[in-house]
Amino acid sequence: MNAGMRDFTLRNVYITGGSAGIGLAVARQMAKRGANIIVFARTRHKLEAALREVQRERVSSDQRFGYRVLDVCEHAMVQAVMGEAAQTFGPPGVLINCAGRAIPHAFEDIPFTQFDETLRINLYGTWNTVAALVPAMYAAGGSIVNVASMAAFMGVFGYSDYCASKFGVLGLSEVLRQELRRYGISVHVLCPPDTDTPGFAVENLTKPPETKAISAGARIMTADEVARALIRGMERGRFMIIPGLEGKLAYFMKRHFPTVLDLMMKTTIRKAQMTPT
Ligand SMILES: NC(=O)c1ccc[n+]([C@@H]2O[C@H](COP(=O)([O-])OP(=O)(O)OC[C@H]3O[C@@H](n4cnc5c(N)ncnc54)[C@H](OP(=O)(O)O)[C@@H]3O)[C@@H](O)[C@H]2O)c1
Repeated sequence: MNAGMRDFTLRNVYITGGSAGIGLAVARQMAKRGANIIVFARTRHKLEAALREVQRERVSSDQRFGYRVLDVCEHAMVQAVMGEAAQTFGPPGVLINCAGRAIPHAFEDIPFTQFDETLRINLYGTWNTVAALVPAMYAAGGSIVNVASMAAFMGVFGYSDYCASKFGVLGLSEVLRQELRRYGISVHVLCPPDTDTPGFAVENLTKPPETKAISAGARIMTADEVARALIRGMERGRFMIIPGLEGKLAYFMKRHFPTVLDLMMKTTIRKAQMTPT
């Protein structure tokens, strides 16, 4: 268990991927709790629009808001932009690594270029941001949230590159949790289930039938529900934060009854493969 973070008032919250989807919802929810919000992504006009939305949630005129254009894949750019942000706004009290993406396909349909890009955004991106900002967090401590997925603890048909990247995020986070505790930095991993976001809409365009069958029937959460679950999890000092009952159940099955989960997956996949398209 981490030490819980209960008070976000005037804390600097840095959010990569904060211009859309889950990252934007987290920015809004944390602004409601009085935090200073600094969002990072690649597209300037989306950042500007997102920040206007976030600012509407402010509860105090002392709160500060900002954005920086950033590609988390680019190590040198992340070092420079995060260094400048820490100088300008002060170091993060909370760093949320939310930039990420998924393009589901069967393994044989994923070219090396896609695998490489997925790893660069989801895993290297997380490494780059943490590496750039942790030195600035040593003195005052704080929290790091790495956004993984349920695909960080269970393999799912159609997500070979994505699972590789998100299992990596979980492993990195477990180590960081042990190593950064001595600096008063707590580490959390958010593992959302399917969540209604612009990214999820894109993901749905390429899902193989087997992937669709696995997630069929599962409730799709809203980004706000996921953001509120994250804040609750941080307040309670949880390391693994899994929003929603179905996600928690899947984690329980994976840990305690992996053979049953595997059998359920196998049956669903076989059924989807036998259904004419
Ligand atoms: N939605 C789901 O069902 C779901 C489920 C489990 C886990 N997740 C994880 O949750 C996170 C957010 O997902 P989402 O669905 O909210 O995504 P989204 O709606 O597509 O938003 C992605 C955000 O990340 C930014 N981004 C993407 N690539 C970037 C890069 N290279 N550098 C900097 N910023 C980048 C995007 O802005 P720009 O494109 O302008 O850069 C945008 O702000 C991801 O890590 C995803 O894997 C999502």
